[in-house]
Amino acid sequence: MSQEAILKLLDANKQWVEDELSHNPEFFKELAEGQQPEYLWIGCSDSRVPADRITGTKPGQIFVHRNIANLVIHTDLNMLSVLEYAVAYLKVKHIIVCGHYGCGGIRAAISRNNYELLNKWLRNIKDIYIKNQDELNGISDTRARENALVELSIKQQIENLMKTSVVQRAWHLGEDLTLHGMVYDVANGRLKQLIQYDRNSPLPEIYRYYFDED
Ligand code: CO
Repeated sequence: MSQEAILKLLDANKQWVEDELSHNPEFFKELAEGQQPEYLWIGCSDSRVPADRITGTKPGQIFVHRNIANLVIHTDLNMLSVLEYAVAYLKVKHIIVCGHYGCGGIRAAISRNNYELLNKWLRNIKDIYIKNQDELNGISDTRARENALVELSIKQQIENLMKTSVVQRAWHLGEDLTLHGMVYDVANGRLKQLIQYDRNSPLPEIYRYYFDED
C-alpha cells in the first residue's frame, strides 16, 4: 500500500517531465544553467500552502524556505543561511513572509497543550501573543483571535527580518530589496498583502548595525 503511494509520485513526475518538454523542449536544459529567482518565500510547512502553486511561479522563479508557522528566528541557522544566500548571492528583490489562516502552529501555540520539543519552537508565538495580549484578549471569537495572531505574527517576522544584518547590509549597499508580509486563506485560495517594508520603515536604533563604511 505505502509502496503504491510512492509509485504514484514517481509516475506523476514522469508525466510532469513529458508535459514540460511538450511545451518547451529546452525547459530542463535552461534550468540546468542556473537560477535567478526574484523572490524569497518564507512560508509555513503546511501542505495546503504550496508557494509556487498559489503564486503561479515556475521552477527557477521563487526561492523557498518553509518551517512550522513561517517563523523568522534570529538564531535559526537554517533560515539565516537561506536568507543570506538568497539576498547576498541570488540578489532576490522581494522577501515574502507568508502566513495562513487556520495555521496549526498558531493554534497549538495558543493552546496549553504540551508538545515537548515543539514547545521550544511554538514558544516564539506565545511571546507574540503576550506582546499583543490586550488586543487579542479583546477578541471573543476563538477563530477570529487565532486569525488576528496569524496576522500579528507575520508582522513580527517581517520586523525580525529587518533586524538581521543580512537585510540591513543589502539596504546599506543600496540593493533594491522589499519585505512583504502576506496572508493566505486556505478556505478560498486567496493571497493578500498585509504590510510592506523597505529601508525607510521604522526600526528601533538599537537594532540598526554599523557597517564598515560608516
Ligand atoms: Co501553518
